[in-house]
Amino acid sequence: MCGISAYIGKNNNAAEIVFNMLSRLEYRGYDSAGIAYIKKGKPAKISVVRDKGMVEDVKEQYIPEHSDLCIGHTRWATHGEPSKINAHPHLDCKQEIAIVHNGIIENYIALKKMLEDEGHKFVSATDSEVLAHLIEKFYDNDNVLTLEDAVRQAIALLRGSYGIAVISSKEEKIVAARLGSPIIVGIGKDENEYFVSSDTNALLPYTNSTIPLNDGEIAILTKNDCKIINKDAILMQKKIEKILYNLQSAEKGEYAHYMLKEIFEQPRVINETMRGRLRIEEGIVMLGGVRMKDEEIRSISRIVFIACGTSLHAGMLGKYLIEEIARIPAEAEYASEFKYKFPVLDKNTLVIAISQSGETADTIASLREARARGANTIGIVNVVGSTIAREAEKGIYVYAGPEIGVASTKAFTAQVTALYLLSLYFGRIRNTISGFALRELVEEFARIPEKVQKILDNANAIKDIADEFYNYRDFLYLGRGYNFPVALEGALKLKEISYIHAEGYPAGEMKHGPIAMIDEGFPTMAVLIKDNVYNKIMSNVEEIKARHGRIAAITTEGDDNVKKILKKDDKVMDIPETLPIFYPFLTVVPLQLFAYFCALKLGKNVDKPRNLAKSVTVE
Ligand code: F6R
Repeated sequence: MCGISAYIGKNNNAAEIVFNMLSRLEYRGYDSAGIAYIKKGKPAKISVVRDKGMVEDVKEQYIPEHSDLCIGHTRWATHGEPSKINAHPHLDCKQEIAIVHNGIIENYIALKKMLEDEGHKFVSATDSEVLAHLIEKFYDNDNVLTLEDAVRQAIALLRGSYGIAVISSKEEKIVAARLGSPIIVGIGKDENEYFVSSDTNALLPYTNSTIPLNDGEIAILTKNDCKIINKDAILMQKKIEKILYNLQSAEKGEYAHYMLKEIFEQPRVINETMRGRLRIEEGIVMLGGVRMKDEEIRSISRIVFIACGTSLHAGMLGKYLIEEIARIPAEAEYASEFKYKFPVLDKNTLVIAISQSGETADTIASLREARARGANTIGIVNVVGSTIAREAEKGIYVYAGPEIGVASTKAFTAQVTALYLLSLYFGRIRNTISGFALRELVEEFARIPEKVQKILDNANAIKDIADEFYNYRDFLYLGRGYNFPVALEGALKLKEISYIHAEGYPAGEMKHGPIAMIDEGFPTMAVLIKDNVYNKIMSNVEEIKARHGRIAAITTEGDDNVKKILKKDDKVMDIPETLPIFYPFLTVVPLQLFAYFCALKLGKNVDKPRNLAKSVTVE
């Protein structure tokens, strides 16, 4: 949801560096982009290059010039359509201050009115432009006010969320600040250059030493110094944090798309999320980040998962797992609804926030609400040091590594791995699962990565099926039990990258309405594996066939019964056999590949689907 980058240092090519960082941040938004840099001279001046379009297109308009100080932005429009005039950076009236902003300024209408009454002239339809004019209002060198003082006074008036970087032609510095939207400072190798970024991926080519800002903190970066202050201008002592993965893990390498690479990484990701936590020989599960006394675990009366999108689908699966394995009542809630429905919570309720980025505004808001209402909280997060990772009382990192493709794939399987570990851990402590049963589950769990690999080795068979089905306008996805959240996830993948309308449904509900849609032009993707509801879904498939609906089905290897009821133009994708509770790992992968190959065939931008952004940092 907009990406910010900035550079100050000895390198005269600041604009080039900022453009490079922006292209690594493009998954956060890509409808327009821009940079502002300081052109030395007497007086020094701010130069701006910005336009509608992707970073690469905007960069073509930049004529290289020496500069050692630059800020940049890649946009996902909230206020004001994508256009040159609405693209960041935004300037003040005198064109001496430039700002880039990620977030939403909720009280911008009132602030704009106040500033216009004072004579400020606005040119864009954005909320962000008020910030440039507010800083201008407070910035007055004659009164010995520094840029950071002006920024501090300006942001004190803002309601909403922001991650910002600000420059002035009068001072050689970058001022960056955050409230609700991530800002990470990167420290150059010899400590006389500094970077600012919305995430760590963009910093990787330059440094792995970072200082993530907390809400309310302000960074003041010059060529040889980095100071962090709080809103009262008190100097903060911050620790340098190292990025734990390398540049290669954030590149797409030999793969055509990040999404494909990330789908293929899943066996490794599941292994890494399990590593050290699943003790196969002893048949036990250890979760260091969830240090809870046995008594505390036994006193949990209810678990509520809060998340959005794909992470919510992982949470829905978590509900099934926790109820079956640990026998604790559980719910999965849209984070965007949870906070505003006055949730009933107490100290025996455990709220589990699931998020790949750890920065999703709705999930953060709900987590804070849960804490304020006295619930215990756990975060299941991929990005180390992110807001949810820091604000949840306990945590499980999922070790998926950087996920760049906008459509989430490996983060889902990693989250699901963490949820199995948590359910088995709670189940053992609460004595709802015997040592014997746990050992059997742990052993099969350890075999899952190689079974996922087997599906990936057969990806071409799924491509052939996609080549037959990519031209439909609509799709129904059916699954039941553990595979109902998988059906939702498969449908979400298809619609977000191929723009084919797809609806996920619990298979048993089909006869209560959706069956009316079925005809030869409305195909169904059925998750039809050998579990306890196999016969029921078989009946649903028969009902669809009786209405001339076409079927693509995920079936268990060697299941000949399905083939008997299907016609020649129906298709099946076989997956290896496993224990019923582990099927979601194996059923979701063909659905991810199916969506990928449909989008590819349709010529869509797989890694950057229209209208979407990877990290939704506004409510
Ligand atoms: C779908 C997708 C989104 C995210 C959702 C939550 O492919 O990526 O639905 O799952 O925006 O994001 P996180 O997990 O970062 O909180």
